[in-house]
Amino acid sequence: MKVLVAGPLEPFLRRTDVPPEIEVELLPEGAPISAGDAVAIVAMLTRHLGAAELDRLPGLRVIANFAVGYDNVDVEEARRRGITVTNTPGVLTEATAELTWALILAVTRRLPEGEALARGGAWTGWAPTQLLGVGLGGRVLGLLGAGRIARSVARRAPAFGMRIAYWSRTRRSEWEAESGAEWRELDELLAVADVLSLHLSLGPGSERIIDERALRRMKPGAVLVNTARGGLVDEAALVTALEGGWIRGAGLDVYAHEPTIPAALRVLPNVVLLPHVGSATEEARQGMWDLAWENVVRVIGGEAARTPVG
Ligand code: DGY
Repeated sequence: MKVLVAGPLEPFLRRTDVPPEIEVELLPEGAPISAGDAVAIVAMLTRHLGAAELDRLPGLRVIANFAVGYDNVDVEEARRRGITVTNTPGVLTEATAELTWALILAVTRRLPEGEALARGGAWTGWAPTQLLGVGLGGRVLGLLGAGRIARSVARRAPAFGMRIAYWSRTRRSEWEAESGAEWRELDELLAVADVLSLHLSLGPGSERIIDERALRRMKPGAVLVNTARGGLVDEAALVTALEGGWIRGAGLDVYAHEPTIPAALRVLPNVVLLPHVGSATEEARQGMWDLAWENVVRVIGGEAARTPVG
């Protein structure tokens, strides 16, 4: 049985006991799919899998996406063809939550500006008004979404003295009770959040949810953080908002058309930009591989996937 491993995943594959009945074919990043006899594909979020790609894989039984987000896969189309789609929830939650906090702190305390000053040799010494940021204590952390990563980000908020407010389509009363998070209408959340952190999956209902209208509702001192998907934000509107001082700053790990980062964003001093590294810890990436591989082995062995989508 042929399993396509699409993308530079060999380091993980080398540490894996591949059962003798499985033949692995490596598909380099960006290369077109040719192995029509594959029964499974491990795919990265950079590989679009829609009807045209699936036409080339008539024997496919499982798409194991090496990511928790699966907007790169046409899940409906896969379902119509009887193909199981899986993702990697849980294993990257803590890594992504940690990076979210890294961005919150980097923006509010202006870390890249400070680092550039220290490294560049132009620092002339301590000064009382140099590189002033804002503190987090007593401020409101606004979360868009209340899934695993959002809740993990929220768990760290009390350590910084922040209150938690959130919006998601489904209210989570139990979580509200245990965390003290307050549910708000979306517009209200936008207006009260000092830090607005995005944790929604990308889909028809969430695409560009942070558009000009949303940005205009935010506080002038607010910070936007996005470790979810770039398509949640209208990037042109965000540039206008940052240039115009509608919000204080932004911390971004994801972009609408990766790896392109709009030039107008790259020149702004009040944004911190990272290259989609939310889950980039050794532990998380190994966990993602283990789960994706387990899903492959289970489905082609006739068992139910551990983490099917939907
Ligand atoms: C995911 O899993 O969706 C992340 O974006 C990968 O880092």
